[in-house]
Formats: sequence, C-alpha cells, structure tokens
Amino acid sequence: MKEQDVTSTERVALVTGSTSGLGEATARLLAEEGWHVVVHGRDPRKVAKALAGVRSAGRGQGSSLVADLSRRDGVHALADEVLATYGRLDALINNAGVATPNRSARTRRVTADGLQLEWQVNFLAPFALTLRLSGLLARSAPALVVNVSSVAQGWGQLRWDDLQMAGRWDRMAAYAQSKLALTAFTNEYAQRLRADGVRANSLHPGMCATKMVRSTFVLAPHRTGYGARNIVRLVTDPRLENASGVYFHERRRIEPNPFAQDVVGRRRLWEVALDQSGVIGRPDEVPAELLTA
Ligand SMILES: NC(=O)c1ccc[n+]([C@@H]2O[C@H](COP(=O)([O-])OP(=O)(O)OC[C@H]3O[C@@H](n4cnc5c(N)ncnc54)[C@H](OP(=O)(O)O)[C@@H]3O)[C@@H](O)[C@H]2O)c1
Repeated sequence: MKEQDVTSTERVALVTGSTSGLGEATARLLAEEGWHVVVHGRDPRKVAKALAGVRSAGRGQGSSLVADLSRRDGVHALADEVLATYGRLDALINNAGVATPNRSARTRRVTADGLQLEWQVNFLAPFALTLRLSGLLARSAPALVVNVSSVAQGWGQLRWDDLQMAGRWDRMAAYAQSKLALTAFTNEYAQRLRADGVRANSLHPGMCATKMVRSTFVLAPHRTGYGARNIVRLVTDPRLENASGVYFHERRRIEPNPFAQDVVGRRRLWEVALDQSGVIGRPDEVPAELLTA
C-alpha cells in the first residue's frame, strides 16, 4: 500500500496481533469508528482474512503488514515498512502476545535469536517497535501507545539473575515477568515522551475466551468483545485524553506492580531492552531521549 491510500482526515492505528482474539476485535471496532486500521499478523492468510473483516466493519478502509515478532529482524522489518508506508500514526496498539500452552507447559521455548519466547514477543518486540515508531508518533501528535498487559503483571517479578529463565523454568512466572516488563516500560516511556505529545498506557483487558486463554485453561468469564472494548476505550474516550503512564484493570485505573513505578528499576530494564532489542544502530527515527538508559 502507498501512503496516499490513507486520506488526510483518517486516523491511523496499527494493531499488532490482529489476526485473532482481542486484536482482531479491536481492529474491527476501530474500523467501525472510522479509523484506518493497519492489521498485523505473522500468517499472510490470516492477515488477509482479518483485513477483509476490518474493511467490512468500516467503510472499506484498512491495510495490512506481515511480520513475525518472535524475530528481532521481523520487528525491525515491520518498523521499516510502517515508516516507509504511512505518513502518520495516531495509535500504536501493542497487542500481540504469547503464553505457553498447557500441552507444552514444561517446555521453555527459545527463539531464533536465542531469547525466551514470552520475553521476546511480549516485551522486547513492543519495546523495539514502539521506539522505532516514536518519531512518526511524535510527528502525528497527539498520539498514543496502548500496551496490552495482563493482570499477571501484578504478581510478576524480574529475575535479574536469570531473565531468560534458563535455570528454573516456570511458564506462569515467564508470562508474568514479560507483562510486568511491558507495564514498567509503558510508564518509563510515557514519562520520556510526554513533552513530544505521545501518551502511553497499559491495561489488563479482562479475562476473555480467546485462543491463548483456551490453550492455557485459564477461566475466562468474558467474551472477546469485552476486552476489545476496554482496549478501544483507551484510544477513543475523550475523558482519558490526558491519561498517560496509567495502568488500567479493565476500565479502572489502578496502581500496577510497584516495580512499574520504580524509576531505578525501570532504567535498569531499559538498558537490558536496548541491548537485546537491536534498537541501537537503527536510531534514524528514534528520539534521543529514548536511546539511553
Ligand atoms: N484473553 C485474555 O483473557 C487476556 C488477558 C490478559 C491479557 N491478554 C493479552 O491480550 C493480548 C491478545 O491475546 P489474545 O487473548 O487475544 O490471544 P490470541 O487470540 O492468541 O491472539 C494473539 C495474537 O498475537 C499474535 N502473535 C502471537 N505470536 C506472534 C508472533 N510471533 N508474531 C506476530 N504475531 C504473533 C497471534 O497471531 P496468530 O493468529 O498467528 O496466532 C494473534 O494475532 C496478548 O498480549 C495477551 O497476553 C489476554
């Protein structure tokens, strides 16, 4: 797609992981509200199907990109493509995520980059994508980043001596650690980019019966639409237009895990993420205040 395919009045939102579950429903809701949604997924066939859904939910607008977020080069190729294609980005919704399913609970999955899967997809990928797109977000200000975290961030802990969990594997701890890192990153990012007109919030969308949740046998009282509406609300509710660095449990603002408010810990995490995400060396569009710990 070419830049001119987005009309000058359309707001553009990139929703990662919009081929199923909460992301797919979020993408459709935003399209219904007139947004130009950039659908993203790793499987081209699923992406084409999700894009068709978005176009029929809206007025035919929308576009799509394919990238595997479990690969560092996949994340950077996605960022490159967004920067080359779109003249504006009003909202970035980092929704794509993984959790180790019950059937392989004892298996610690490692990516092609040698990193633990949850850590790379749930934290490093949104970290790198957000930093790489920050120049575009700032030029589109007021703009917003929404990071889809989880209630699990509340009991998460950063295992500083073994962030990759190579020593003692625990899939729930790995998921919780990745979501805590995402929430802490959100708050640090919000503070650093406040002056540029880019806000950032994170949320637990609510327990909804999606593919991920079914595969982990977690009890989910809500349908997908409930969680998607909670995500969309952070983007579109005018009463939240000054909220930044806030964590929401479904619709309520609450205090996240104290680590997410610990500036020293957040900067330590930032340093790790800069090192592991491959952002350094591709700073063309990244504001300077994001490139140091
Ligand atoms: N559902 C809940 O109750 C709940 C609660 C708290 C937080 N969350 C969070 O909500 C987000 C959405 O999850 P969901 O419940 O909607 O699960 P889902 O239906 O499994 O959707 C996950 C999405 O992420 C994509 N994805 C996974 N790995 C990827 C990769 N390596 N590269 C690119 N895309 C990838 C999936 O693509 P495929 O379609 O190809 O698999 C899918 O589009 C996640 O971040 C999750 O942690 C969900």
